[in-house]
Amino acid sequence: MTVLLESRIAGLPAPKRGKVRDVYDLGDQLLIVTTDRISAFDCVFPNGIPHKGRVLNTLALHWFSRTRHIVENHVVSDDPAAVVPAGTPLDDLRWRCTVGRKCKPIEVECVVRGYLDGSAWVEYQENGTVGREPAPLGYKRKQRFETPRFTPATKAASGHDENISFAQVVNLLGADVANFLRDTSIALYRFAHDEMLPKGFVLADTKFEFGWLGDKIILIDEALTPDSSRFFERDSYVEGRRSISVDKQFVRDYCETLDWDKNPPAPRLPDDIVAKTSEKYLRILEVITGRPAPWLNE
Ligand SMILES: Nc1ncnc2c1ncn2[C@@H]1O[C@H](COP(=O)(O)OP(=O)(O)OP(=O)(O)O)[C@@H](O)[C@H]1O
Ligand SMILES: [Mg+2]
Repeated sequence: MTVLLESRIAGLPAPKRGKVRDVYDLGDQLLIVTTDRISAFDCVFPNGIPHKGRVLNTLALHWFSRTRHIVENHVVSDDPAAVVPAGTPLDDLRWRCTVGRKCKPIEVECVVRGYLDGSAWVEYQENGTVGREPAPLGYKRKQRFETPRFTPATKAASGHDENISFAQVVNLLGADVANFLRDTSIALYRFAHDEMLPKGFVLADTKFEFGWLGDKIILIDEALTPDSSRFFERDSYVEGRRSISVDKQFVRDYCETLDWDKNPPAPRLPDDIVAKTSEKYLRILEVITGRPAPWLNE
């Protein structure tokens, strides 16, 4: 199966290319194409990971459909045929597309953490706070919180996310919207955490994006994939230890063996790392959705 590094759809305006996804503006809808690009340390690698884009898109659609009882979301369809010009070859696009209702994005990244890791662990060590709120002394890395914490962030001018306090979200958006975002994000996190744990994955933290559709707030972007979340394997979870997200473990481990300063350009990944990473993604999809990747039987 071919690896898609960049989508090209003749007859549509050029997409906005993120690190992993190509987003086509269709007017009142967006066509989001998840490619096989992979990034780590904020750098995109020159080669892609077979199946990765299809896995991420299929997982996001799985979660959007499973969480509709909690909040409405932007998904219109997974079928590009209705929105691309007639005659567009569809083979490269199947399984990797989401057509979403275009919203006005709310400029707060709604991060929920059930465990202390990532940038929250850094913040805790530096300031003794989590999400800019005071936290008890003596936490270990990866420790599970009594209750999940909402640790919002904004995209800073530098391009990197900056953690902000809940009070700052209230200032930016008002108390009603801030409460809605917090409560909905925590409900989504709890639901996904509790579904994944018996399947062998710990959902340590995750990020949601919401947008305005008229006067309604709905869930947009993607949700609960390894690109927006940190998962670790339940059976290897050890409090206090450094953890690596399950999907990119081989890529990060490999990069640590190189004499690379983690600034662009990223090095080419060797075939065995690519193959192992690809298997990891396929396994995550199979375990979470309970069935093998549907395109493998085509
Ligand atoms: N339904 C929607 N309506 C409006 N904007 C949306 C919708 N869904 C997603 N978006 C926006 O589309 C963009 C998707 O871009 P993408 O995530 O690929 O790149 P990025 O966020 O710029 O960079 P990165 O690669 O670091 O994630 C985001 O800005 C997201 O907020
Ligand atoms: Mg993004």
